[in-house]
Amino acid sequence: MITKCLFPAAGYGTRFLPATKAMPKEMLPILTKPLIQYGVEEALEAGMTTMAIITGRGKRAIEDHFDISYELEHQIKGTSKEKLLKEIREIIERCTFSYTRQSEMKGLGHAILTGETLIGNQPFGVILADDLCQNDDEGVMEQMVKLYKKYQCSIVAIEEIDKAHSEKYGIVEGEMIEKGIYKLFNMVEKPHPDAAPSNLAIIGRYILTPDIFEILKETKPSKNGEIQITDALLEQAKKGKVIAYKFRGKRFDCGSVKGFVEATNYLASTSELID
Ligand code: UTP
Repeated sequence: MITKCLFPAAGYGTRFLPATKAMPKEMLPILTKPLIQYGVEEALEAGMTTMAIITGRGKRAIEDHFDISYELEHQIKGTSKEKLLKEIREIIERCTFSYTRQSEMKGLGHAILTGETLIGNQPFGVILADDLCQNDDEGVMEQMVKLYKKYQCSIVAIEEIDKAHSEKYGIVEGEMIEKGIYKLFNMVEKPHPDAAPSNLAIIGRYILTPDIFEILKETKPSKNGEIQITDALLEQAKKGKVIAYKFRGKRFDCGSVKGFVEATNYLASTSELID
């Protein structure tokens, strides 16, 4: 059973300035829900009930969001608005939230390592809330948990991209072991399109086995000074096994303004909007 999910949410979200000057990127709403709530719902659907969130300066709104707001609840009790808090209330009842701060932004690998204290010695999910995933059936994390039961190793979610965009992603190379499932032997972080080993890009969903923490402690920062999770995963792949999974569903890169607008339009077209 995988019960914990890590949410690295310490980044500055500079692509959304000035909106993110005093507000966390993860709290930007798609319709009425902040991005991070979609991620928490996906983890919960996958059976995870402990949400471990890596925060930083200026991220307090995330903690307040996943807490009871007595004054507000009291104000709207018995009114038609009460139902608007139903989903978040259920989340608060069903999950435990824990937080730790990444005091310096030294990359995603470093953010994940910062989470060791919240995760301990067990496999765990990782969700980057700015990658919003939508499915008609099972969520991406739920699909990955099923796969974990079979393979018992670290798993990264991948999608096919236009190679021209490879500089935005970690790109993987592996041997297909089942339709849409690859045993990885190579991973390159943000390669130039000419150097990209494939068009398979890692998106913001992972299941990691806890030996990743020891590997991350030994992982040297890359040229830009960040500790890359792809470097640690490549090491893990050399020592044992890491697989990549071509998930079912849609993914929106809500870390970019364009992807954020696409996600908003998509959800607006599939939801009933209130006047
Ligand atoms: P991004 O690079 O997409 O996020 O990192 P960012 O730095 O906030 O965005 P921009 O480029 O400035 O607009 C991917 C994810 O990893 C987290 C971010 O919060 C985001 O969810 N992250 C990244 C950390 O938690 N710590 C880090 O040091 C780096």
